Amino acid sequence: MNIRKATENDVNGIAHVHINSWQTTYTGILPNQYLSSLNIEARKKNWKRNLKMLHSATFVAENAKGEIIGFAAGGPEQTHEPLIQGEVYAIYILKEYQRQGLGRKMIKAVIHELMKMEHKNLIIWALKDNPSCGFYKALGGRVIAEKTVKMAGIKLIEVGYGWEDIQDILLHL
Ligand SMILES: CC(C)(COP(=O)(O)OP(=O)(O)OC[C@H]1O[C@@H](n2cnc3c(N)ncnc32)[C@H](O)[C@@H]1OP(=O)(O)O)[C@@H](O)C(=O)NCCC(=O)NCCS
Repeated sequence: MNIRKATENDVNGIAHVHINSWQTTYTGILPNQYLSSLNIEARKKNWKRNLKMLHSATFVAENAKGEIIGFAAGGPEQTHEPLIQGEVYAIYILKEYQRQGLGRKMIKAVIHELMKMEHKNLIIWALKDNPSCGFYKALGGRVIAEKTVKMAGIKLIEVGYGWEDIQDILLHL
């Protein structure tokens, strides 16, 4: 498995992983109708824009065939949490490649970029019902914030896992 910085040529692969991973992760959390309506063209458009954003970093993971099987992105904190500087915006890996240590490696790549940007602390938001919250707990994250969000017409709780010192997460990677 190879991890590298994403380029604009990766929008197809990232959008595919994004939709596929949302569908496997959020079944039972978000309505099926919403999940099956996720549109690849809309995702590609979003990612084209995201990849042009200055001050943010996106990495992709490729399998032996060079196919994108995961992505992770981060940059300056975007949700206006006071005192927090850095944020991992998203990390998604196709189901068949999960729990093989790839998440740790991908988040490490993003954290190094956040440190280069001189962010001293970190937040990662996740839906409270997402079993992957176990990943953030395993990396030493503590719930420091909680909010209600509306997604697909329903209200859901998001929790913010925080690291007071961004260096602390490296101890778990
Ligand atoms: C969350 C995710 C990025 C983690 O990546 P990963 O490659 O599967 O995780 P790793 O193999 O690096 O796991 C590291 C440790 O985190 C913990 N962990 C990971 N996934 C977990 C889960 N679903 N439940 C509980 N603990 C978990 C474990 O302690 C694991 O160590 P172990 O496998 O030796 O027990 C990946 O599983 C994923 O893409 N999940 C679906 C999408 C998602 O929910 N993304 C996050 C949205 S906020």
